[in-house]
Amino acid sequence: MKITAFGVNQTEKFFLEKLAGEQQFELNIVEAWASAANLDLAAGSLAISTLQTGPYDEALFAKMAALDIRLLALRNVGTDNVDFAAAKKYGIQVSHVPSYSPNTLAEFVVMNAMRLLRRTKEMDLATAAGELTAAQKMVGRQLSAQVVGVVGTGHIGFETARLLHQIGAKVVAFDPHPSEDSPEWLTYAANIEELLSQVNIVTLHVPGIKANDHLLNAQRIALLPDNAIIINTGRGNLIDTDALIAALRAGKLSGVAIDTFEYEAEIEAQIQAGQQPSEPHYLQLQQMPNVIMTPHIAYHSLGAVENMVKISIDNIFNFAKNGSPINRVE
Ligand code: NAD
Ligand code: COI
Repeated sequence: MKITAFGVNQTEKFFLEKLAGEQQFELNIVEAWASAANLDLAAGSLAISTLQTGPYDEALFAKMAALDIRLLALRNVGTDNVDFAAAKKYGIQVSHVPSYSPNTLAEFVVMNAMRLLRRTKEMDLATAAGELTAAQKMVGRQLSAQVVGVVGTGHIGFETARLLHQIGAKVVAFDPHPSEDSPEWLTYAANIEELLSQVNIVTLHVPGIKANDHLLNAQRIALLPDNAIIINTGRGNLIDTDALIAALRAGKLSGVAIDTFEYEAEIEAQIQAGQQPSEPHYLQLQQMPNVIMTPHIAYHSLGAVENMVKISIDNIFNFAKNGSPINRVE
């Protein structure tokens, strides 16, 4: 059985090659993202394994059908970039990895909450500039003294809530489908407005589906208490970036951490071309001392990558055996 893996980085390459040896499949590795333009590289494959934030569009699915490759096996959670109508039209099944390491994301959120509360970016800049007296004056806040709002309590949101609770923070959540056996320490708000009005920190863990476009807009950001912090590891479209920048400039927010960014597509194209990002919103945010920008890397730990690769390949083996992957998404 031949599998072509697109969008492969060095860490994934190691785990993919290990599995190919152990499970005896022919592995074809391509560094570039999958698209109709390069799909001929996968000719003769039973399935495609992929990881990318760029689109899986109709042209890609048409090309897969032409090559008789009937499974697109994502190595990640989010499926907001998949044109499911086109996949269905061309008879292509799509699988994802529903959970590979929620703790990796939870730790990333906690790290950024602490970085913002203790003002580490400002502190580093002042120290590097030799302004040590200014750095000494920068007072921080404790995470254990905050009320944190977790929007979305699926795999990642729940684990994030648990870690925050273990640290001593009070956690308030909102999810239209709250888990029935939620622990007594986790309070659910009736809606997102109610959550925003009572938390100092808000962290987003919902999918980037159309219905969640600009979930945090100017009106909702205004509901947060002054000096609040926003952390987004969900998807870029969840926040109206113009409203976010305005709230930062007005001093409404004391800090922001953005791993998934509304204008990520432009930046990603520049990263892949070896250029520096020049997208204007990115440049404004990146230059602010109380804003932490990361290039969609919250997922990137060794344990997470090992699981992503393994579960994606399991999906392909199940498809080979039973005609359907374990984690099919429609
Ligand atoms: P999940 O499907 O387990 O949970 C998502 C939860 O969000 C569900 O419980 C759902 O009911 C809830 N939800 C949907 N819309 C909502 C809304 N408007 N308000 C409140 N709750 C809402 O997904 P997950 O594994 O927890 O992942 C969440 C998202 O995190 C993924 O969809 C993906 O976009 C993102 N993600 C980012 C990275 C990264 O590296 N930055 C890594 C993995 C996942
Ligand atoms: C996800 O798993 O959904 C992510 O956001 C990770 C990313 C590398 C696509």
